[in-house]
Amino acid sequence: MFTSTNPSDIKEVIATVPEASANEILTVLRTAKTAQKSWAKLPAPTRGRIIANVGRLVESNKEALAKLITKEMGKVYSEALGEVQEVVDTCDFFLGEGRRLYGQTVPSEMQNKNLFTFRMPVGNVFIITAGNFPTAVPSWYIVPALLAGNTVVWKPSEFTPAVANALTSIFHAGGVPKDVLMTVVADGVQTFAALESGLKEGVINKVGFTGSTAVGKKIGAKAGEYIQSACLELGGKNPMVVMEDANIDLALDGALFAGFGTAGQRCTSLGTLWIHESIYDAVLAKFAALVENAAVGDPFKDVLFGPMISQKYLDNHLDHLKMIQPHHKVLGSSATGRITAANPRKGFIGDPDKGVFAHPVIVAGIKKDDELYSTETFGPLVTVGKFSTLDEAIDLANGHGYGLSSAIYTKDPQNVWRFREGISAGMVSINNSTSGAEAHLPFGGNGLSGNGSRQSGIWVLDQFTRWQSMNWDWSNKLQKAQMDLIEIKHDPNFLLNI
Ligand code: UN1
Repeated sequence: MFTSTNPSDIKEVIATVPEASANEILTVLRTAKTAQKSWAKLPAPTRGRIIANVGRLVESNKEALAKLITKEMGKVYSEALGEVQEVVDTCDFFLGEGRRLYGQTVPSEMQNKNLFTFRMPVGNVFIITAGNFPTAVPSWYIVPALLAGNTVVWKPSEFTPAVANALTSIFHAGGVPKDVLMTVVADGVQTFAALESGLKEGVINKVGFTGSTAVGKKIGAKAGEYIQSACLELGGKNPMVVMEDANIDLALDGALFAGFGTAGQRCTSLGTLWIHESIYDAVLAKFAALVENAAVGDPFKDVLFGPMISQKYLDNHLDHLKMIQPHHKVLGSSATGRITAANPRKGFIGDPDKGVFAHPVIVAGIKKDDELYSTETFGPLVTVGKFSTLDEAIDLANGHGYGLSSAIYTKDPQNVWRFREGISAGMVSINNSTSGAEAHLPFGGNGLSGNGSRQSGIWVLDQFTRWQSMNWDWSNKLQKAQMDLIEIKHDPNFLLNI
């Protein structure tokens, strides 16, 4: 059994759910695979109407779902509402796609012959997601996969089973058959074993994974063995570059939200704040003051951030604190580590001893060969460094090999275009934070952040459909492509004589 608890009050049990073994997951995979053919036969506009139902139901259950998110994983309630809105937005986008899901008619090189393309569902998809966005990120996979005629087996984070079951029940209430979307809660070892057998048996036709780069590498490699490419949305060390002409207050609002919102546990969280050397001391001092004075604590109150998702995430954060070197300057709170009555945070809202809360940390003076420069910390820890030229900033922003989200603050369009061209990240914000992607633009990264797959908008359809091309020759004779060409008479030596 898995038990999820409230990270603001770890004695409060939120849900106890059965833990699936690899064999049980495999049975579920087989069931969903069997259901796929009839689901795919349903006309796409009908599937679109089901997605519309789901969207409306998510909307009418928005507060209940958001409350459960805040209780089970600890993000502040306003962010939880935003996350649920992202599910609604995703449904709103894809309900119309049911009436498009376009293929093309393509001219043939021969007469009396026509060419066409069709989007075909891939089959049964296995989706594995993390606890930091327990509804929005899963919906980025589940909604387009279902719309395109696939069945889905979803393995949510074991830290958010109550949210996962609530979301699943909304999909079912909206008209998705129970064997078309199936949710299983399991640990990593059982999940990986089921992944391997499911791929081998052919009951997994596509894998979607959001989580750490280390696990993504293993999943991607396993899928590759079975000639599949997984849809991977992995870690980030997202840079934010502040040029000397930037609106500093705006940049710091962005840094605060991106660095510490969701306690730094977004894949789009700010990694390093790169500040131009001419304004470094002043901007750093202002940032430190903002972080020192920010409210932390009860996520149902007006705070910058609440608890970590669980003890595991807090332990991870504590490990990262060990990477701080003597040449670094630590700022942002009255202490570091877990917030407790004995290790207090000024102005903390609530009782810190009840939950898994961490002090926000700014580690200033980051250098390229520091461990923290290239480590995704996934907690309330922001590193800060300086640069002298934009080229140097771009080099620092790319140098660790992650490439998910990025941001630049400047008023100069030359800087904007040079940054956009030079940054290796899949997503670029101009005068906006690294977090807060809208639900209908391609979402995804490069290098250590992903294998180039993109979610959201029309782009994700390439993950959940395969192109089928068809040619129809109605000439009643064998016309050979590339050989039976129509001869064109022309004069290759023609020159105007004027
Ligand atoms: C994630 O952390 O996996 O852009 C997704 C954002 C959110 C999604 C983050 N809309 O920060």
